[in-house]
Amino acid sequence: MIFNRNAPAQALYVHWPFCPYKCHFCPFVALAGHDSFMGQYHQALSDEIKIFSRSWRQTAPISTLFFGGGTPSTYPDELLSELFVTLRQSFIFEEKSEITIEVNPGTVRLPDQLILWKSLGINRLSIGVQSLKDDVLKSLNRNQRAADVLTLIEVAKDLFDNISIDLILGLPGVSSDEWKTLLDTVVTFPLKHISIYFLTVHEDTPLYFKVKKEQIILPPDEDMVELYHWSCAFLIAHGFEQYEMSNFARPGFSCKHNQAYWEHVPYKGFGLGACSFDGQARFENDKRLLPYIEHASLGSITTYSELLTERQLFTERLMLGLRCAKGLSLKSVGNLLDNNEDFEKFCAKISILKQESLLYETNGHLMLTARGLVVENQIIIRLL
Ligand SMILES: C[S@@+](CC[C@H](N)C(=O)[O-])C[C@H]1O[C@@H](n2cnc3c(N)ncnc32)[C@H](O)[C@@H]1O
Ligand code: SF4
Repeated sequence: MIFNRNAPAQALYVHWPFCPYKCHFCPFVALAGHDSFMGQYHQALSDEIKIFSRSWRQTAPISTLFFGGGTPSTYPDELLSELFVTLRQSFIFEEKSEITIEVNPGTVRLPDQLILWKSLGINRLSIGVQSLKDDVLKSLNRNQRAADVLTLIEVAKDLFDNISIDLILGLPGVSSDEWKTLLDTVVTFPLKHISIYFLTVHEDTPLYFKVKKEQIILPPDEDMVELYHWSCAFLIAHGFEQYEMSNFARPGFSCKHNQAYWEHVPYKGFGLGACSFDGQARFENDKRLLPYIEHASLGSITTYSELLTERQLFTERLMLGLRCAKGLSLKSVGNLLDNNEDFEKFCAKISILKQESLLYETNGHLMLTARGLVVENQIIIRLL
């Protein structure tokens, strides 16, 4: 199966898998100790982009481009400039497209690299802060210091208006008071966006084995749920809007790229393990570095593709819609159900969840209540 050449994708993702270290909690396609492959990988990535753009019929300008990783802030300057030439020759971009790069504090040459990024058109930084406790990060193999974050933001604020940070809630060694102090500190930074992710212990990561052997004790779930609710209220009181379960933005600064994923519109990903969606089918690139490099110029790097059934589309739209502050449009999800009978059954389930104060409805949109947010998965299962 191939990506529909007429799919109206307006969001592009580029994956840069190289990292200066491998954090013990990380499940992503991220490689430490492989920097010698950067040149070859860049070439393969450029080939993949050129081959795709030759066969794809672009019908609307690109509105978001996201460099994710891995650690894209380690993309060598000359190669990144070259990639931008390829991207701009291959696609038409909206004049005000959102172009984001993920940045690890301590991996950036200040201010030169930021100046280059800005000149290339990058206009949004997504900084992986996670925590400001050096010892906690070090114990998870993340070589990053709070001082790196402060210096980066201090320099970046004069060049970039749109700065976002990622934080992880539930890291071992961070008390509730320390988490609150962290949020107290970050709201003083010149940020437009904050993402708060619950720590997930992914199988086969070093964190997973340490937790299994009880070498690491995680904070209790109930405490984290309470802290999550506290954090939502705290950020809202400090002028952020919660537009999705994990995402908070100053008015007008929600992340367009993430919204494309949540709205279930087509997007195209390039690079190792990158995913794409053409509106009907999902695709995943090879996650193995050498086969990816070898096969990119032949145009044969998709290792997984799946045509989604109406039922799967319904499930995904349900999951994505309920996480967003805008909520799930009952009309759009109703269109995916086979018949009136199914829709009536669905509405009956909604009524029960509303009575249990887990869901509420405004203007034809369904949303999770604060109680519903933390049992989201159970609600989805009950709605299916
Ligand atoms: C794809 S990662 C890459 C970003 C960048 N390399 C960095 O680490 O700052 C994006 C974000 O995922 C989050 N993340 C990574 N592993 C996680 C885990 N096990 N649980 C929750 N969030 C995680 C972190 O907040 C990270 O900033
Ligand atoms: S730096 Fe980011 S992508 Fe790399 S290992 Fe750590 S969390 Fe994963």
